[in-house]
Amino acid sequence: MPSNQSIIHSAEKFAKQQLEGDSSGHDWWHVHRVRQLAQELARSEGADPFICELAALLHDVADEKLNESKEAGLRKVRDWLSDQRVEPEAIRSVMAIIATMSYNGGKNPPMETLEGKVVQDADRLDALGAMGIARTFMYSGFKGQLLHDPDGNFDDLDYRSNRKTAIYHFYEKLLKLKDLLNTNSAKSMAENRHRFMESFLTQFYKEWDLVDFKDD
Ligand code: ADP
Ligand code: NI
Repeated sequence: MPSNQSIIHSAEKFAKQQLEGDSSGHDWWHVHRVRQLAQELARSEGADPFICELAALLHDVADEKLNESKEAGLRKVRDWLSDQRVEPEAIRSVMAIIATMSYNGGKNPPMETLEGKVVQDADRLDALGAMGIARTFMYSGFKGQLLHDPDGNFDDLDYRSNRKTAIYHFYEKLLKLKDLLNTNSAKSMAENRHRFMESFLTQFYKEWDLVDFKDD
């Protein structure tokens, strides 16, 4: 059996090779940050560090945006894990995490294992704060979305009545994330990031309305 360390090393190479050129907000450096967040959370929550790090490294390789389908992406990761001779139980744990951790409008059932909770929180923390703001605009540019539609009604978060703009994404997802985190460690790490997004939006609207240079 290969050592955990050599499996992690190969997973890092595999993820880099799969995601290197991506410009939709899933590049290798996103994976790198999620891995570090997952390690930090695993330590403070007492989760299995190997499973958390391995799932974090592989979590976006299976993303349906980068594969023909979600199933094809998951098959690719499962085949890779078997080729590496990872223990079947570890394969099951990692696959269960990456198959169900995506946001999906907040509709996926809660993660069952502590390791799943940790990796999902790590991915969500990287969607918050300055990093989350930057990634949202990257993704919007990639998709050709508008920056903002001042006639959009963010109180009514019905997809059909709102144009999907970059700013709309804050209301449909980013501002909701802090209440959807699983672990207390992630909740406390999210506080600053959440506040930063709120002050970004406050300043954004002031500049939109040309009132930012006026006294309050
Ligand atoms: P991940 O699971 O790695 O967070 P996603 O595919 O959900 O990846 O999103 C990638 C990034 O793009 C995230 O920062 C996310 O908030 C952002 N994003 C996802 N959907 C949209 C959208 N419709 N408009 C703007 N940004 C988006
Ligand atoms: Ni991700």
